[in-house]
Amino acid sequence: MNIIKVKDSAEGAQQAFQIYKDILSHGQAKVLGLATGSTPIALYNQLVESDLDFSNIVSVNLDEYLGLSGNDSQSYRYFMNQHLFNKKPFKHSYVPDGLRADHNAAAKEYDDIITDHPIDLQLLGIGRNGHIGFNEPGTSFESTTHVVNLTQSTIDANARFFDNESDVPTQAISMGIASVMSAKKILLLAFGADKADAIAATVNGPVTEDVPASILQNHEDVTIIIDDAAASKL
Ligand code: GLP
Repeated sequence: MNIIKVKDSAEGAQQAFQIYKDILSHGQAKVLGLATGSTPIALYNQLVESDLDFSNIVSVNLDEYLGLSGNDSQSYRYFMNQHLFNKKPFKHSYVPDGLRADHNAAAKEYDDIITDHPIDLQLLGIGRNGHIGFNEPGTSFESTTHVVNLTQSTIDANARFFDNESDVPTQAISMGIASVMSAKKILLLAFGADKADAIAATVNGPVTEDVPASILQNHEDVTIIIDDAAASKL
């Protein structure tokens, strides 16, 4: 794992932006795996302000809440439109469909999309419990796209984006861990003391399904950008 320590999230976003600039200006990426959450917002702002062109790039997002339409301001589709796609159009932007009644069919179709568009660079945040995408602790390392019952810890963490905790969806559809691991390169961003335990377990702990991100130790091209607070337990 290539670990880049930065003083704060602003510097982290700058470093991450350089990675995108390099890979895109050398024509090395056709498919970007993208993530939601507060962590990548500063990076997305930089991408939007840049002169990088995404019109020939396909994006594939990690996950979506079940039961929310893409027009719902809490949906991840809406988030991506607001923070990136409306300002920087991609050739095509895939986000799992949270409204499909047949979740298994939606999951299978998403896997086919990933097979047809192998991910060159997958961006990840990390949950406080070490989840990536919405792959909660205990998820099989062999998993592909699937429906997830969110843990209370994740519901609590995401409640800050909703008016009431009772509005937070309890299920999601997420790319699986095997899907994430199939990306050629992976970039994980983590900022703040809340992420320190998860980062320590990811980097130094055993590779275990109890800490989904620990599987990244087995990937040959992972970069982790962390600020001092997230690195404090390494
Ligand atoms: C959600 C998302 C993850 C994200 C995590 C952390 O659970 N599904 O992809 O990494 O939140 O979010 P934040 O970046 O806001 O800490």
